[in-house]
Amino acid sequence: MTKKILVTCALPYANGSIHLGHMLEHIQADIWVRYQRMKGNEVHFVCADDTHGTPVMLKAAQLNISPEEMIAAVNSEHRADFEAFEINFDNYYTTHSPENELFSTSIYKKLKEKGYIKTRTISQLFDPEKQMFLPDRFVKGTCPKCKAPDQYGDNCEVCGATYSPSELIDPYSTVSGSKPEMKETEHYFFDLPAFEQPLKEWISSGAVPAEMANKLNEWFESGLKQWDISRDAPYFGFKIPDTDNKYFYVWLDAPVGYLGSFKNLCDKDGSINFDEYIEKNSTCEMDHFIGKDILYFHSLFWPAMLYGTDHRMPTKLQVHGYVTVNGAKMSKSKGTFIKASTYLKHFTPEALRYYYAAKMNGKTDDLDLNLEDFVAKVNSDLVNKLVNLASRTAVFITRNFEGKLADKVTEQEIFGKFVNAAGLVDECYEKCDYSRAIREIMGLADEANRYVDTCAPWILAKDPSQKERLHEVCTNSLNMFRILVTYLKPVVPALAGEVEKLLNTDLALDKISVHLCGCLINDFRPLFKRIDLKTVQNMINDSKEDLAKAAAGSQKAKTESPAKKNKKDDDSEIAPQISIDDFAKIDLRVAKILKAEHVEGAEKLISLELDIGLEQRHVFAGIKSAYKPEDLVGRLTIMVANLAPRKMKFGVSEGMVCAAGPGGKDIFLLSPDSGAQPGMRVH
Ligand code: MSP
Ligand code: ZN
Repeated sequence: MTKKILVTCALPYANGSIHLGHMLEHIQADIWVRYQRMKGNEVHFVCADDTHGTPVMLKAAQLNISPEEMIAAVNSEHRADFEAFEINFDNYYTTHSPENELFSTSIYKKLKEKGYIKTRTISQLFDPEKQMFLPDRFVKGTCPKCKAPDQYGDNCEVCGATYSPSELIDPYSTVSGSKPEMKETEHYFFDLPAFEQPLKEWISSGAVPAEMANKLNEWFESGLKQWDISRDAPYFGFKIPDTDNKYFYVWLDAPVGYLGSFKNLCDKDGSINFDEYIEKNSTCEMDHFIGKDILYFHSLFWPAMLYGTDHRMPTKLQVHGYVTVNGAKMSKSKGTFIKASTYLKHFTPEALRYYYAAKMNGKTDDLDLNLEDFVAKVNSDLVNKLVNLASRTAVFITRNFEGKLADKVTEQEIFGKFVNAAGLVDECYEKCDYSRAIREIMGLADEANRYVDTCAPWILAKDPSQKERLHEVCTNSLNMFRILVTYLKPVVPALAGEVEKLLNTDLALDKISVHLCGCLINDFRPLFKRIDLKTVQNMINDSKEDLAKAAAGSQKAKTESPAKKNKKDDDSEIAPQISIDDFAKIDLRVAKILKAEHVEGAEKLISLELDIGLEQRHVFAGIKSAYKPEDLVGRLTIMVANLAPRKMKFGVSEGMVCAAGPGGKDIFLLSPDSGAQPGMRVH
């Protein structure tokens, strides 16, 4: 029986570009959708830009354009990126649409009728200059705990403390720089706790991945909270009915945007029954592909909103982890914050689609895009194993047999195996365990290559008496190739399209066991170009340039509007940014210098014995030009205590001492009367 499935990707925010982190989700969903379609299911795949909220409003103001103009420009950029990546949306819409406004207000009205909307007066920080309430992210100040300056209103990135913006010391609005005031305002709340029971039932129906169960239990245990769904003007969003100056919080209308986009598709298409997909007892599926960061919204708020308005709840949340690049969070300064459009200037979509698929197991682990591995894997699998199968055999069909395949295939045993793999491949695709599917398919590719190697068509081709055998071997190989590419078609649709042209046939799941015999194929043309590390480097450099351009752009915008007071950095260039997590890994300790000696034969080094409280360390330090060893004894310095020991020419160094200054005499160590004690951790 064919299924009817509505599939969505999370709606990207309209204030930034699509990057390779987003692409994980879109590639994951697109592969799933393509596979479902190959199976004959009816799938509607929709997405949209998430356009509302304070960040969009302020960014547009910074650019001196209206929010409408900005979201329109971003929308066409996003569409182009997804299209170029072969993401097969049936509709890519916007949340700033009449459909979405209609659904958001009608859902709200219904919830209100049923008593699920409450009002309460809250106090919130208010920017007196801009006359606007400030979301936590737009208030900064000194951390009440550790006194670090310039921390956000909700948490401190230095010590990790969380607090409310009213606790900040010397708070300032990042919009105007002025000192915010506390002001009372009436807000609207959605009564989430009323839905605890149906939510628990829905979750245990298998709609949410089991590995997320702990997270969900935590949320239930700490008690569901009333959800604040209103924001005061000025706000870019939809007005709440029967109010003058209240707007729906962006996260209220964002998931409703799934339905808005779908409705827009139904109206354009004319043949899809919208209601059938969202009515209470719908037999259609509704699957949302999301990242783990937005689970709360999709596993609690959204299903509760649907349930509370007598709609169906989602069938399934497919939750993925985060993309890291070379083992670290994507970083603008390292050039690993790679925009989709930047990637596409250097590589084909197939390469990333394949690499992501090869690493995606349908679970919520993070996925590391290791750029060296990316090059190696794509070349070894797509070029050496897959495409090579065709390039080594198709040429003979063209040259020796006028493009015509033999009348039958032999090697029933191998083909039996290839055809039977369909079951496992299906299971894997269904679960989004693409990595296992690919391992299986590449295992078969190895087998096919062994077959070609053993039969050595290039040798057969030299012997006229082996002509028939050559025909048979090449026909067999190309049929093996055909089956493998059919399995991979959802992952590499453009490559599969080229193969369809080459083989003059559609690659369809129900034709796996129908061998291609006695028919004409086309001349072989290179199907996939090898990729290299140099191109990776170019892409990274380009990404750094993107950043420089963006920075220049926003600098310009800043000078045009008086927004954001920005402290000027040092004159000297700052090293590439590290995250707070990177910083937290560094264990800085106060160390007392017990012994300091010249190192025989070393120009710059002094050998130091250090007391770091719990233990003693031996370190080589390159500070000979600034200090005489005898002057150092008894003084305090700061050391990186958890640096991996390094074997140097003169011995092992068990850490590194820190000193500042241009060298020469100015290198700075803590003075003995600073009050610091050996072993103290430096924060
Ligand atoms: N606008 C909200 C979603 C609303 S859905 C009703 C949002 N937008 S987002 O642009 O920040 O993220 C969109 C999706 O991309 C989310 O599912 C998010 O998890 C995913 N990703 C964004 N950065 C990512 C990585 N670095 N890695 C993997 N996915 C990430 O959230
Ligand atoms: Zn702090």
